Amino acid sequence: MSQRISIHGQWSSRLMFILAASGSVVGLGNLWKFPYITGENGGGAFVLVYLLCLALVGIPIMMAEVLIGRRGRQSPVFSWQSVAAEAGASSAWKLAGWAGMLAGLIILSYYSVIAGWTLAYLVRMVSGSLMLVTAEGASSIFTQLVLDPERLLAWHTIFMVMTIKVVSRGVTKGLEQAARILMPLLLFMLVVLVAYAWRQGDFAQAYAFMFNSDFSKLTPNALLTALGHAFFTLSVGMGAMMVYGAYLPKGISIAKTSILVGLLDTVVGLLAGLAIFSVVFAHDLPAGDGPGLIFQTLPIAFGQMPGGSFFGTLFFLLLVFAAWTSAIALVEPMVSWWVEKRGIDRIRAAIWTGISAWLLGIVTILSLSSWSFSFSFGGVLKRHGLFDVLDILTSSIILPLGGLAIALFAGWVMSRDAVVEEFEGRAGIGFKLWYFVIRFITPVAVVLVFLRAIGVV
Ligand code: PHE
Repeated sequence: MSQRISIHGQWSSRLMFILAASGSVVGLGNLWKFPYITGENGGGAFVLVYLLCLALVGIPIMMAEVLIGRRGRQSPVFSWQSVAAEAGASSAWKLAGWAGMLAGLIILSYYSVIAGWTLAYLVRMVSGSLMLVTAEGASSIFTQLVLDPERLLAWHTIFMVMTIKVVSRGVTKGLEQAARILMPLLLFMLVVLVAYAWRQGDFAQAYAFMFNSDFSKLTPNALLTALGHAFFTLSVGMGAMMVYGAYLPKGISIAKTSILVGLLDTVVGLLAGLAIFSVVFAHDLPAGDGPGLIFQTLPIAFGQMPGGSFFGTLFFLLLVFAAWTSAIALVEPMVSWWVEKRGIDRIRAAIWTGISAWLLGIVTILSLSSWSFSFSFGGVLKRHGLFDVLDILTSSIILPLGGLAIALFAGWVMSRDAVVEEFEGRAGIGFKLWYFVIRFITPVAVVLVFLRAIGVV
């Protein structure tokens, strides 16, 4: 079975897989979410736990997820099904594929709304209307945008169309092409911005904030947030890496490429955090401002710095590119499933997926402006609003559970021989280490963090 090629095509080279997978992992998670959740959770200790989650949970699961995808060579639901059949296991494992598709749809729905904010800010930056903006001015611009459903809807629609356009062109002409053009530009822009923040911002304070650990600030909620973010930022637990694995030609090392992509994502997240906090602290702005952090604080900071308008534009362009290549990966599991299941063409499948996520996105838009409520999860996680419900449901619940399923499946259900075969038959020390981690450490870590978050341990 492992010799077959996916009907959707395959990556034309190792580099293309690395670029596409990096496009998927590097996204709003690194540039928007990581800084604000680090700010909300007090910095250092949170970052350390997050790094541990990446190393012990996220990256090992990424390898397992790519592996299951390459063995199944289909959309996640069908890959789960066929690899489970090969292992003589219950076809109920495909439920994990379904849960992942649902998570992808939900994440895409709000991801596109936030990407819409970045498009709106990009236009403002280009027009120069954010120059010399005051703190009050910046927060009122942000509030006005978030409370304006029509404007949000317009940007949400534009972003969704951009995403669907790429996905409908297929693996080689769409996914690969976007990654080939956007990823090098994105990395270049990031380096320029870090150099700028280094020279103009307060790098020392940003460094201290991110790396001086104060464990008294680490709540059970922060633990689950760190774990959930490790999944979110690595795009694992919902099938995106599985479908990217399904397009991976034989003979390319899953271990090396996954570790490379995981490290790149980690470095980008840390660099983005350092750059953003340098700029924030240089202007004595608050770090714990929540989802509005980069939108409310950075324009003030950029507006007062030499060359700020240029670098501000570069920053929001970086965000748009990063969001774009990630949104593509959010759509692909469902599009590939639709094509396989219904035999419809990719363009139609992409349009239907886009419309579903677009409709769901309207819920996020309305919840930002008109419905607000509070809720708590296990008495510990107290959050507000529907946007938070969707975020917690996906990042903190479905992705970790999906990841747990992947770890258990690769570690305990698939035969060791099949797993080794996907590692090019090499069962050396690296393989043994990974196999131990995925069987014992990863599942236990995920379960423990869950139990801690709901107050059981
Ligand atoms: N990893 C992306 C980010 O950090 C989000 C994402 C999650 C993309 C799941 C694909 C699948 O923004």
